[in-house]
Amino acid sequence: MNANGIKKIAGIFILGGILVGCRGTISEKPPIHPNMNMDQQLRNEAQEENNFFEDGRSMRQPVEGTVARGFRKADLAYYEGVDENGDWVTEAPVEFTQSFLYRGKERYEIYCTPCHSITGNGQGIIMTGGYGYVPAPTFHQDRLREAPDGEIYSAIYNGVRNMPSYAHQIKVEDRWAIVGYIRALQASQNATEDEMSEFDINLDEIKAEFEAEQQRLAELQEARTASQGEVVATAERGKEVSTQWACQTCHSLDGSVVIGPSWLNLYGSEGQVVTQDGETITVTKDDEYLIESIVSPYAKVTEGFDPLMADAYGSLSEADLKSLVEYIKTLSDN
Ligand code: HEC
Ligand code: HEC
Repeated sequence: MNANGIKKIAGIFILGGILVGCRGTISEKPPIHPNMNMDQQLRNEAQEENNFFEDGRSMRQPVEGTVARGFRKADLAYYEGVDENGDWVTEAPVEFTQSFLYRGKERYEIYCTPCHSITGNGQGIIMTGGYGYVPAPTFHQDRLREAPDGEIYSAIYNGVRNMPSYAHQIKVEDRWAIVGYIRALQASQNATEDEMSEFDINLDEIKAEFEAEQQRLAELQEARTASQGEVVATAERGKEVSTQWACQTCHSLDGSVVIGPSWLNLYGSEGQVVTQDGETITVTKDDEYLIESIVSPYAKVTEGFDPLMADAYGSLSEADLKSLVEYIKTLSDN
């Protein structure tokens, strides 16, 4: 190699050294940018002030009467679950295929089971301990079995009374998939023997399992009551239980109506209730009536109210039930 060759090679190394050496070096000057390609232009940043417009904002509202692409939600039945009069649609505007229902099952088990439980009986994990939540109702009651599909959709989309909306977490298609799955759950828990005999299952075995489970629950309840020893009911304890079970979310103490009747002057009063046979009768709101109202809220529904109290308090001990009554008594002159 001659001297020229050596110079060339040295030159390449030095040039390379300079280029590599630039990396990581901080410079105040803009980088060399030979071809601008409209990379640098005047523009407005988000939230930036802009005196060009009268309102001083650079972020503009859509022109009145226009809808951005992808935001035209004209299909009310699909997006909101209502018809053109604003009434809930009776039937979901989607087709429930098997894979769609499985999608619903998956979404339901992620979002709804903590409160509504895997079977939809309202005994989800956070509902069972008296942690201060309003209990979720069971889906296996006539009111919700007969509810239009749009009403179930609406619970997810808008939320309902004490339940928040899940519209942000669950997209439209999945909301309908969940509605379909709730219908499937309802059918599964309310099948006649005839319907069940169509499947390859052993009915006697299922009945025996069911009875064993009922027996187990009854024994559990008995043991719970026995472990308390003598039943001591106090108004103080009643107030505590009322807080733990969020009763005041629906029952006021000052005579105002929230979702259910106020507890003010409830004890000892007379009032009309509708029995399960649809008969209206007059009752005196004594100890026995109040306890029945808590343990079996649908047995006698206070006239003028919807049966919105969840059937979720059957596991309260006798002492706690009596304490609740003692507490309600203190709110009454009767
Ligand atoms: C954090 C607990 C919680 C979660 C999670 C939850 N719910 Fe609820 N849900 C409730 C409560 C509480 C009520 C009763 C509200 C009331 O009556 O004040 C309720 C009521 C309902 C009702 C009855 C509406 C009516 O008309 O009475 C439906 C249907 C329902 N939920 C569906 C769902 C679905 C579907 C999901 C999952 C996407 C879900 N919920 C998730 C707590 C929950
Ligand atoms: C989600 C709302 C809600 C919650 C929570 C709730 N209730 Fe109710 N409750 C109602 C509604 C609505 C009625 C009236 C309709 C009916 O009789 O079912 C009612 C009725 C009653 C009645 C009968 C009142 C009357 O005028 O005859 C009693 C007693 C009662 N609730 C006690 C309780 C107790 C105790 C708790 C807490 C452990 C509780 N409720 C929690 C909604 C609720």
